[in-house]
This record gives sequence, structure tokens and C-alpha cells, in this order.
Amino acid sequence: MWATPDVLDHPWVAAFRRTRAWRGFVELVGGPRRRLRILETRPWAHPYRPELVVPRTMLSEDEVAMLHWFGRWYFRGRGQIVDAGCFLGGSTAALAQGVSANHRLSRERRWIDSYDTFVMDWYAKREFFADSPLQVGDSFYDEWRTAVEPWERFVSVHRGDVCAQTWGGEKVEILFLDVMKTVPVQTVVTERWFPRLIAGRSILIQQDYVHEWQPWIIVSMELLRHYFLPLDYFDYGSAVYFCVRVPSRRTVEAADVGALPLATQLELMDRAATRMPAHHVPVIANARAKLLIDFRRYDEARAAIEDVWRRWPEHARARSVGERLLEYAEKDAAKGLSASA
Ligand SMILES: C[S@@+](CC[C@H](N)C(=O)[O-])C[C@H]1O[C@@H](n2cnc3c(N)ncnc32)[C@H](O)[C@@H]1O
Repeated sequence: MWATPDVLDHPWVAAFRRTRAWRGFVELVGGPRRRLRILETRPWAHPYRPELVVPRTMLSEDEVAMLHWFGRWYFRGRGQIVDAGCFLGGSTAALAQGVSANHRLSRERRWIDSYDTFVMDWYAKREFFADSPLQVGDSFYDEWRTAVEPWERFVSVHRGDVCAQTWGGEKVEILFLDVMKTVPVQTVVTERWFPRLIAGRSILIQQDYVHEWQPWIIVSMELLRHYFLPLDYFDYGSAVYFCVRVPSRRTVEAADVGALPLATQLELMDRAATRMPAHHVPVIANARAKLLIDFRRYDEARAAIEDVWRRWPEHARARSVGERLLEYAEKDAAKGLSASA
């Protein structure tokens, strides 16, 4: 675990550490390279396990600890923390408890911007609200508010479609994205926030990267690979990046996945797979099959899934997700047929 001595948390010392003179000194003797050396040791990884109050969440324990670590030990208040897709407040609470224990920061500022529609979908109903009178389409905002109440003073909440929100010129120091559920949302979110990152400081967390159902995230990060250095991958979840340089608005616009032909996207996914730790590759291979389904190349998708099963016969998740992908492809094909009838 990377920790600072208690003396650094003393209010006088903490106040001094907020001055420009101190920050300039730290940049001079420390700076991005030293920061990166520390980050590459993955100090948030097990056994880092702070005692936290965590509401029900879709995140793993490892991801919660990682978010806390960034709020507590890394965040310096050079920009905001974006928590996009906060659901019942798991990510918000982890970040906010980190911020709350981080004495280098002003207590007066709402450092975290949390976003969600707070509208229940079928998955949330099935997995989190099965016994609740709330139904699909109802708001779960009150649950989020109750869960984050102890740290509410650090959080600004933005209800509604993230695409309909605006953002001023503020920089973003930690960008946690758990909202990239469609290509159009990804396009808006990346164009809004990526150019606001800080080179040599900002952290980007793509929660759905190591996942089968959102191949566009893998394609997008591959397009922008010269701007972000991967630091960590979590099982069936987040990829964590250090922003080495900031993509301009024009660069991000040019990297719009929605405008790319299938062949280019497949090529980018194949390249991404060569850089991933081997045990994550079956996930990327199934995400590739999902991409083929999105382009209605059902036969090729089936062949790709069968290839995954051949290559990783013992991989239980590759098997079960592959089966779900095939079901999804069948329904998608049937929908296409009925639309053209
Ligand atoms: C996977 S969940 C987030 C999980 C959460 N980070 C946690 O800690 O448990 C994704 C969230 O994104 C929200 N969401 C999806 N599309 C959205 C959109 N266009 N605008 C705002 N929120 C959206 C959903 O309501 C959902 O709560």
C-alpha cells in the first residue's frame, strides 16, 4: 500500500500542501514520471482493503478499493472527479470516502460530479430490486441519495441522460466511466471529457472494458492508445489508464467508433487482444463476436464464438456468455426479419 505519513495530514501541513508554491515544487522534483512509477506498482491492488461503507453495487470489491485509493491517495484537486453511471452509489461512495479522508483537499468544494438517469431498467429490477415495489421505469434516485448522504457535501448530482448535460471548462483529474452503454453515449462522453483531462496526471477508468457486450469501448481505446497508458485490468470489469497526453477535441471526434467500418474495428480489436494479459483474451474474443452481431454478421459471429469454445474449452464464462450471445443474435436476426417483412 502506498501511504503518506500522518504528519502530512496535519491541518497546517495540509494547508501548506494546497499552496501553489508547494505544488510547483512537487511538479519539479516529482512529476509525471515519478507518479507513473508509483502507479505501475498498482498500490490499490489486494491487500489494499480500506474499511468502507459500500451500498449495493455492480462493482467488484477490488474495483471499490481501487476507486477509494484514487480518491484518498492520488487525487490532488487539480480537476474534478467524474462518476458517470453511479447507479445505487457504489462508485460514488468509494470515491467520496476517499476524498473525505484526503486532507490535502478543500472541504468546501464538491469534487465529485455524479451522473445517472436513476431510471430502473430490466437488469436492475431483476438483480437489485426483485423484492421491491419499484418497477422498471421507476426512479431509484432516493436509494442513491440515502446511500451517499454521509458524503453528500463532496458530490454534485446530475440527474437524467448524461448526453443532455453540459460541462464548463473544468479539468477532469479522475474520469470514471460506467455509462458507455451505447456508441452514441460513448461519442458524447469522450468528446466532452477526454479533452479536459490533464496530461501526466489524470486517470481514466473504463468500467466496461474487460467485458463482452460493449466492443466499442475496446475499439475506441485502441484508437486512442497513444494518449493512455494501461495500468490495470480487472476481471470482467474496469481498465485503468494514465493519461500521458491529452487528445484534442478534433482527435476525439476523428476517433468516433460509429463512423468506422467493421473491418477496421475488427483489426483494432485484434490488436487490443495482443496487448491484454492472456487470461482476459477470451473476453475480448467474445466481444469481437458481439461486434459481428452488431453488424448483423450472424454466421461469422457464430463461427467466432465456436472458435472461442475450441480455444478455451475449460473457460466456463466464455462458454456461458457465448451461449447468451448466440441467443441475442437469434433474437436480433428475428427482429431484423420482422422489420423487413
Ligand atoms: C453499470 S451501472 C453503474 C454501476 C455503478 N457505477 C455502481 O457503482 O454500482 C450503469 C448506470 O448507468 C446509468 N445509465 C445508462 N445510460 C445512461 C445515460 N445515457 N445517462 C445517464 N445514466 C445512464 C444506468 O442508469 C445505470 O445506473
